[in-house]
Amino acid sequence: MEQYIIRGGNPLVGEVEISGAKNAALGILAAAIMTDDTVQIENLPNVRDINVLLEAMESIGVEVERLSSHSVRMNSAHIGEVSVDYEYIKKIRASYYLIGALLGKYKRAKVPLPGGCNIGSRPIDLHLKGFKLLGAKVTIRNGFIIAEAEHLHSAHIFLDTVSVGATINIMMAAAMAEGYTVIENCAREPHVVDVANFLNSMGANIKGAGTDVIRIRGVQKLHGTEYPIIPDQIEAGTFMFAAAATKGDVMVKNVIPKHLEATTAKLLEIGCEVEEFDNAVRVVASKRLGSTNVKTLPYPGYPTDMQPQIGVTLALAKGTSIVTESIFENRFKYMDELARMGANVRVEGNTAIITGVEKLEGARVSAPDLRAGAALVIAALAAEGISTIDDIVYIQRGYEEFEEKLKSLGAEIERVNSEKEAQKFILRIS
Ligand code: UD1
Repeated sequence: MEQYIIRGGNPLVGEVEISGAKNAALGILAAAIMTDDTVQIENLPNVRDINVLLEAMESIGVEVERLSSHSVRMNSAHIGEVSVDYEYIKKIRASYYLIGALLGKYKRAKVPLPGGCNIGSRPIDLHLKGFKLLGAKVTIRNGFIIAEAEHLHSAHIFLDTVSVGATINIMMAAAMAEGYTVIENCAREPHVVDVANFLNSMGANIKGAGTDVIRIRGVQKLHGTEYPIIPDQIEAGTFMFAAAATKGDVMVKNVIPKHLEATTAKLLEIGCEVEEFDNAVRVVASKRLGSTNVKTLPYPGYPTDMQPQIGVTLALAKGTSIVTESIFENRFKYMDELARMGANVRVEGNTAIITGVEKLEGARVSAPDLRAGAALVIAALAAEGISTIDDIVYIQRGYEEFEEKLKSLGAEIERVNSEKEAQKFILRIS
């Protein structure tokens, strides 16, 4: 099992390039099967989740040609099978986007029902409600969701909860339904907009993405396109907090600063300097940071995917902070790990009370999930001494060349595959 060994204490300094947005790419790759023409996608992040989705797509007959590590050409004219294997959905929940895409194009999809996951129970009732309102018959049999329709028709759909996944999935199916569909109470995340822009570049007629009402006039056919994915705002935010927690100075490049506003606002509030450029942000932390309160909310609120990164940073700030998680119920598992590094934290329900300590100490900790794993890396980089992070497979799901990018900023971090390799690195840096 791979691990990270980290010796903390170095401020991160330098420049880092952000990759394409994983969560946008998951929707866009699925949507790409909706045409028989060839589609080329650029700025694809080279991370595990994306590679698994591409494999799932190949398994149903999509021809995938890797042009480079960040560019792929796909043709879906010969999809022989609208049934996706459980093996893929087990590894990556977002393969459920194939339901909306297959249903829109072929009016039939069979995809395993995704289970819970590490950050909490994750129902997909709203996705299914949307498909039903579009005229699909949806049944659950032997662990599979089977959605089928003679024709998909227009609908007026109100989402009870703001859901990124439901918004994207329903939007895909509605793009090829007959008539005019309105989805209300939509998620407004940048990746919802990116998937809508992508579908429009294939000939769909979607308006209002980025607001809470999306209006879709269905089309019969979509065509090929070439499309670059937006930068990953969560990867960018992770490096911004890594700069803050290590009292560093990092220029985070290839970003859309507007997408980072909630993160930037919190960094300013706790005493960082943040300078915005056209497609970069520079974060400088020159003194001990202050406390704040934060509550996760749908975009443009503070993202739940950035909650652990601010949590670990506040563990070193002066004063007491309150972090409230309002999206997923199980996103504080990293707090126990942080306590092992000397943090003063208490979790009560969906609230964490964090009283900053002067220093954290290196320890052996485990990544409980993707974002919490990245946050523990930040904690280890800011801590005194050596830390070992287990279960980094979670981190690799969503961060491209994480350790290489951190090393280029001066971090002492090594990915090791055995106890022997770990000891060798520790000897070298001790
Ligand atoms: C997406 C992101 C994930 C991020 C989350 C919230 C992807 C691949 N993943 O996940 O990284 O943390 O948005 O920004 O883009 N809900 C229901 N019923 C449903 C669907 C959702 O009750 O049918 C609830 C969920 O339990 C949760 C809330 O809605 O409390 C938001 O979830 P949602 O936005 O759907 O998250 P995902 O799309 O799964």
